[in-house]
Amino acid sequence: MTQPKRIAVTGAAGQICYSMLFRIANGDLYGKDQPIVLQLLEITPALGLLESVRMELDDCAFPLLQEIICTDDANVAFGDIDAALFVGAKPRGPGMERSDLITDNGKIFSTLGKVVNDVARSDAKIVVVGNPANTNAYILKANAPKLDPRNITALTRLDHNRAMSQLAAKADSTVSDIQRMIIWGNHSTTQVPDLTHATVGGKPATDVVDQAWARDTFIPTVAKRGASVIAARGSSSAASAANGTIDHMATWIQGTPEGDWTSMAVPSDGSYGIEEGLVYSFPVTCSGGDYTIVKDLEVEDFIRSKMGDSAAELGSERDTVKDLLPS
Ligand code: NAD
Ligand code: LMR
Repeated sequence: MTQPKRIAVTGAAGQICYSMLFRIANGDLYGKDQPIVLQLLEITPALGLLESVRMELDDCAFPLLQEIICTDDANVAFGDIDAALFVGAKPRGPGMERSDLITDNGKIFSTLGKVVNDVARSDAKIVVVGNPANTNAYILKANAPKLDPRNITALTRLDHNRAMSQLAAKADSTVSDIQRMIIWGNHSTTQVPDLTHATVGGKPATDVVDQAWARDTFIPTVAKRGASVIAARGSSSAASAANGTIDHMATWIQGTPEGDWTSMAVPSDGSYGIEEGLVYSFPVTCSGGDYTIVKDLEVEDFIRSKMGDSAAELGSERDTVKDLLPS
């Protein structure tokens, strides 16, 4: 019998998870032949609400879902996991930047990082969603030295998907025609959505849309989309964030399509002059359950300079949380 994959999810009674858990239980991460166990972590006051999520998962009778563990004990949630989705953290409200969450949310990632270090498998695949996602992943990585640092990643796939949709609409095309989009940098307003390598129906995107639109409309629209959703909805994106998280993990596990790539925030290996270790979004290809940063792309000066600004922001966020980083 196939061994089940154990998937830990934190913040499991929250908004994003309410859109995400049912798709994971349906096989959207590992495919339709792979049984799974969900190991759901919440803070103690939210366990009652989490129980209602368990009831609804039960009521779906998902054939692949072998067991649901609901707990407020991180040692239980992260025991023997294949993958962990770190969603549990405060969301921002109107008028806030994601980095305003750093003091409160950073502590969650140092605490949970230590537990993951003690009880998780060293090759567990991790994605951090809770904001500020890149720096929270950096904190987690610093507190979990036994884990493979390459496997500690953060979510920029939502930004990548937003960028595909914006370009498709402008080009009067569909997202299925778009390939080779890139999000560089931090999941913040300094991120660099880059369409200069993208294609639309096989043609260079730069032949289809003009440079002024790419620089003055496309980049800020994608980079500020989270705030636009908050302004319209009154709370932060949930269903699209859940979808982006599933896309991130499913692509990592199952691979990128031939000729295409995706964007993932991963520990920098120094590529493109980005300081080693910063959790920075790059174009990556995925195959055999691993990812590879796409190297040696020609980057125009305008984009290169913005990439540096985003790296500098990550460096300064890291300085802000230095108390949460073991020396
Ligand atoms: P939410 O408030 O609806 O849910 C968060 C849940 O986390 C709550 O149920 C809370 O009880 C739980 N939680 C808090 N501390 C915890 C801990 N230490 N351990 C386990 N659970 C804990 O928020 P949401 O809308 O689901 O958003 C969650 C996070 O995701 C926020 O930080 C938000 O900003 C972020 N987010 C990131 C992206 C992205 O693209 N990276 C997109 C959308 C939202
Ligand atoms: C998003 O991009 O929608 C999330 O990071 C939520 C936010 O605070 O913008």
